[in-house]
Amino acid sequence: MKIISVVGARPNFMKIAPFIRAIDNYNIHSNTGFTPPSASEALAKEAHPLPPSSDNERITHLLVHTGQHYDDRMSKSFFEELEIPEADINLGVGSGTHAEQVGQTMIEFEKILKAERPDWVVVVGDVNAILACSVTAKKEHIKCCHIEAGLRSGDMSMPEEINRLVADRISDLLLTPDLISSDNLRKEGVPEEKIKFVGNIMIDTLEANRKKAERLEINDIIEKNLIIQSKAAGKTSPQSSRCCGTGSSTGEFKSGKPETWNLESGINDFAVMTLHRPSNVDRKEILEPIVRFITDELCAERTVIWTLHPRTRKMLKTFGLFDSIFKIQNLILLEPLSYPEMLRLNMDARIMLTDSGGLQEECTILGTPCLTLRWNTERPVTLREHGGASVLVGNNIERIRKEYHSALEKPRTPVRPELWDGKTAERCLRAIFQYQENVE
Ligand code: UD1
Repeated sequence: MKIISVVGARPNFMKIAPFIRAIDNYNIHSNTGFTPPSASEALAKEAHPLPPSSDNERITHLLVHTGQHYDDRMSKSFFEELEIPEADINLGVGSGTHAEQVGQTMIEFEKILKAERPDWVVVVGDVNAILACSVTAKKEHIKCCHIEAGLRSGDMSMPEEINRLVADRISDLLLTPDLISSDNLRKEGVPEEKIKFVGNIMIDTLEANRKKAERLEINDIIEKNLIIQSKAAGKTSPQSSRCCGTGSSTGEFKSGKPETWNLESGINDFAVMTLHRPSNVDRKEILEPIVRFITDELCAERTVIWTLHPRTRKMLKTFGLFDSIFKIQNLILLEPLSYPEMLRLNMDARIMLTDSGGLQEECTILGTPCLTLRWNTERPVTLREHGGASVLVGNNIERIRKEYHSALEKPRTPVRPELWDGKTAERCLRAIFQYQENVE
């Protein structure tokens, strides 16, 4: 069997890593017919085991990176940390409008499909790559499998919602992370044989990186990733030397007024923030009040660690907000972090403020109270009313303030939704074999 898997942007990398490992595991044992131990445990419970592998049943796998995210910190560092093999093909699509990204990906991906003729194209998540590559695969009469299918925010102003709807409408096999997502697909009339509840593949990566993250020191993460700004040129760069001390003697500004917090004694009580959705960062009248709330209210109470997505950093500069937040006591601005680094911060954070879907899920597993700066979510299973850690606060400051104070009252309560057990990748692979067996 030949599979092409597709990645394009940061959230894809943590989802594809375990799938590639599951393929490798299967192939490693293909000569012996040996079933990997983790598989045998699951096989006992599953009606559809992986077929006994042999040389001629090996999976040939190619990884295609569309190149939507290209900075080392948005892409390469994830490949290295999560031990993802280098992409076999990089389409080099880069930044641009949605039409440019999707159109260019389709043009380039079609050439790959014509040359390689895989049996399956596997897409994960909801970034532009999944729209482009699922459509291209189906037009080439190649089967498509969507991992993380069935999520619905109901919000058609989100580009990701459009990507999900299209990919799910045309894919052959829809692997869902939770039962709500499976039901969403049924309500849309998807035939039962296309839907398979496999669990959340990103949690495979969380569990695989938990120990590594636990070994990291918060202070080392800050030191390594602190954004510093050159006084002379007003330029910023990642920290290269120790971030404590006066700072000014080196001709550099450091965020968070390092002289006011002390790496030696450590930072015990901190909030973590990430923001990147166009709906939060692309308009000054939305972004500025959020920034003011953080700087004026949150930072007065505790340290806030804000990891800056490139889009957000660009918009803060465009709106003339970037320089002023450097002067805020207790606000630590970091470059985009590696997966284990972010996981480590999340493990100890008093509270998370985010508009990321992935962090909502991770907060649920870790029990970190999470304010989700959105009005809706495609991941309702992470909401408090479903037992999760997250509460929707939109970008209304009154609401953020109220929920912030009430979230701080709540104890850290980890919750594990069904099949978020670290073994989803194997179930994905099994579902592909099962589909071949049943449908062909
Ligand atoms: C994309 C995804 C979003 C996902 C997010 C995670 C879509 C529609 N959006 O949004 O679902 O949650 O990734 O990060 O696919 N840039 C860099 N370096 C990079 C990549 C981007 O500087 O490596 C800058 C560019 O200025 C670019 C901007 O960030 O224009 C936005 O990047 P883009 O890929 O268009 O969308 P994201 O906001 O990252």
